[in-house]
Amino acid sequence: MVDVERVLDEAGLTNTYVREYVAHWAGVTGAERVEVVSASDDARLVQESLDAGELLPAGEGLYYSRSYYKDTARAEERTIVATNDEADKGTYNNWRPAAEMKPLLVDLMTGASAGKTMYVIPYLMAPKGSPLENFAAGVELTDNRNVVLQMIRMARVGVEYINHLGDSFVKAVHVTGDLPNLGQGTPDDKRYFVTVADERTILHFGSSYGGNALLGKIAHGLRQGSYDGWKNGFLVEQFMLLGITDKETGKKYNICGGFPSASGKTNLAMTLAPDALGDRYYVEFYGDDIAWLWVGDDGKLYGMNPENGVFGVAKDTNEKTNPTAIDSIVPGTGAIFTNVAYNEKTQQVWWEGRGEKPTDLDGWQDWKGEAIADRSPEHADEPWAHPNSRFTTTLANVPNVAEDFEDPAGVEIHGIIFGGRTRDREPLIRAINDIAEGVYDGLTLGAEATAAADGLEGVLRYDPMSMRPFMSYPEADYAAHWLKVIGAATEKPIFAHVNWFQRGDDGRFLWPGYRENLRPLLWLMQLKYGEVSGVETPVGIIPSREELNLEGLDEQALADLDTILTIDTARWNQEMKFREEHLNQFEGLPEEIWAAHRRVADALDQA
Ligand code: GDP
Ligand code: PGA
Ligand code: MN
Ligand code: MN
Repeated sequence: MVDVERVLDEAGLTNTYVREYVAHWAGVTGAERVEVVSASDDARLVQESLDAGELLPAGEGLYYSRSYYKDTARAEERTIVATNDEADKGTYNNWRPAAEMKPLLVDLMTGASAGKTMYVIPYLMAPKGSPLENFAAGVELTDNRNVVLQMIRMARVGVEYINHLGDSFVKAVHVTGDLPNLGQGTPDDKRYFVTVADERTILHFGSSYGGNALLGKIAHGLRQGSYDGWKNGFLVEQFMLLGITDKETGKKYNICGGFPSASGKTNLAMTLAPDALGDRYYVEFYGDDIAWLWVGDDGKLYGMNPENGVFGVAKDTNEKTNPTAIDSIVPGTGAIFTNVAYNEKTQQVWWEGRGEKPTDLDGWQDWKGEAIADRSPEHADEPWAHPNSRFTTTLANVPNVAEDFEDPAGVEIHGIIFGGRTRDREPLIRAINDIAEGVYDGLTLGAEATAAADGLEGVLRYDPMSMRPFMSYPEADYAAHWLKVIGAATEKPIFAHVNWFQRGDDGRFLWPGYRENLRPLLWLMQLKYGEVSGVETPVGIIPSREELNLEGLDEQALADLDTILTIDTARWNQEMKFREEHLNQFEGLPEEIWAAHRRVADALDQA
């Protein structure tokens, strides 16, 4: 038996509610040791992981890890929101009764950490002093050291964040399980990722992949957070958040927005680095995956990034597409690469889109650890890195992180955008001034799913506000909550739908994307402040060619521009029928949303 009391005393963990919780789960999981961690333990834990071979060196102060080959993405069908009230059952939240799920998870977790250390990770998903602090604290228990290292990079970690909070903390239990014997993706799948939202308890069993195992980030920062936000008057969204300063006018605009996982949030927030469009604009990074939004006492809409790090998609990240990301994972940053290719001799890492593929195969291993040189001809063309391979680095490493990124007051929000991988129909940008139409637009976000979710790459689906995998309560209530929160703001944000992924007949992207995405965002802010008027269409206001800053765009992009600034009415009319079916799934959807749908449909009819 571990002497939990002694361990907690030594760590200065004084919160009695937390102590009770830790002792309880140490008993259930049967862990051999208990250890309380804080950010200052990082170097020691890294060394232990290196010694144990769980991490491999990838350059000075850089690390490499592989997850089990069947455990590389979020498992949506195994992810469940459980509560004690069946009225919480929505279309996408895989609702189950709490009374059914809790015993199941306790069963799976009983004795499952035998022989292992249970790490206690007290964390805060907010800057300290945030008005939402009471909803942001949690304690993750995990039997996986790599999860600890990732959490230290992604969240604010230490007992000082939770000692004073009484029982206002999320109980987040993670047990890895015996990965080779969990039947991932088969009818006998043993994994369960459960958020018991009305008890503020998260129970995840059967994965060590970040999206399933970093409970502060996705299970708390998104699922639990959105449920808490629903009950307490704020919004929790899978949103990036950035600030644009126009140095000529001194004005600053903050824009947040949701694109489904692996659809460009991290790149948008990071890559518009200071010099994206010459010297006039300064673009700051606030967040790349989650934003919590609330209306302040002054009536303004505020937003903050609850995270302390970036868990970015590696694929196609290079000096040209995203120099800021490259700068944030250089030697000395402590970055961890997961499931990219690795050279066991030179300790280099590589992924598709990183640059020239190494021609000397000596030492190179793919993400599964198999030598590239030994590949049989039929496997020769397989990617070296997993398409959902990732890098993890703290915000402080991001060169354009905003100076005030830790300000608990958050930042005022001027614009909210939605987007995703949509190969046709959606123009480069269409702006929406009406709140109900903006919320309607978010609810009808349709895009291709990506490798961030197991087995779904390329599937076209609706993904409301990009929250489908994280939805914790019914969609109709979600829509009503959005209308209520944003409706309460005295200064309304402008909405827009953006698409960087329209394709030509030959499959190429019609818009160069990445750093060029600043151009439509600038237009949006000019539109909000009356400096341009745009072109009215049935689905929103689009820029005229003249209004967009086109300086320095390459010829191909200039030639393709007219296509992505055109509304294909026939295609949109067809889309409206799909939207109606989609929205009909959500019983009790607010009338304002249906009215917005009818306004768009009627305008298209008359076009
Ligand atoms: P997130 O998961 O939503 O944060 O998406 P990321 O920003 O990590 O991007 C996911 C993938 O989309 C990466 O492989 C990026 O290189 C790629 N990507 C991001 N932005 C763009 C863009 O503007 N155009 C194109 N073509 N690809 C992009
Ligand atoms: P992403 O974050 O949105 O950057 O892919 C992880 C996830 O949503 O799984
Ligand atoms: Mn995400
Ligand atoms: Mn991202």
